[in-house]
Amino acid sequence: MKPKIVVFTGAGVSAESGLKTFRDMGGLWHEHRLEDVASPEGWRRDPATVLRFYNERRLGVLAAQPNAAHAAIARLEEKYDVVVITQNIDDLHERAGSSQVLHVHGEILKARSSADQSRVYPMTGALIEIGDLCELGSQLRPDVVWFGENVRHLRESARHFAQADKVLAIGTSLTVWPAAGLVDHARDRAERVFVSPEQQEIPDHYRFLRGTAVEKVPPLVEAWLAQA
Ligand code: APR
Repeated sequence: MKPKIVVFTGAGVSAESGLKTFRDMGGLWHEHRLEDVASPEGWRRDPATVLRFYNERRLGVLAAQPNAAHAAIARLEEKYDVVVITQNIDDLHERAGSSQVLHVHGEILKARSSADQSRVYPMTGALIEIGDLCELGSQLRPDVVWFGENVRHLRESARHFAQADKVLAIGTSLTVWPAAGLVDHARDRAERVFVSPEQQEIPDHYRFLRGTAVEKVPPLVEAWLAQA
């Protein structure tokens, strides 16, 4: 039985792939009001603006490449049972080769019916436009979790944290609940590491590795692979 690792990621792990974070300088929430583009109220008020916001982000994701941190995380699977639990809606972990990825805030490369959240479709084109309807005739929207909507895989994720021998948290400000609370489900005897370039609220009992994902994750992964 391979030891188990949970890798918990936020927007910071994709920053060096050229994708914007939310709360850093120049981040998405400095350019847009989240109430307008990432809430059911914003959708009701002006769906075209919401679609434009996600179409632009989706084109960015399609043009981005996984970085050395994504690749290192995928390599952990050589010696460990790895579950990636990500707040990110991009597919860079999957494209880097990670085989168990839970997206607690949904996936930008999937569309869903705005009337029935169980009707989810792979994105055929890069854009969703007003007038793109599901087979029930309701407008398609991005299959992402907006503020005020239910986060996904929460119980399953908490269970994975509680079973992990090591937890690696990368690139998250831990400001959006309930996802942020997952880091506290790690058990006392688990090795816990937190990677971020800036001094911020580090969860209790996590070793802080100050630096970017690309700087800090590959050497840590090499060390963990060597010790396995
Ligand atoms: N490497 C590692 N971490 C980085 C890097 C980098 N190159 N660049 C920035 N960071 C860190 C920042 O220091 C910050 O702690 O990544 C974190 C990004 O924080 P946020 O922008 O708040 O992103 P995140 O924590 O993923 O946001 C959580 O908020 O708006 C919602 O749904 C959205 O999933 C998102 C959630």
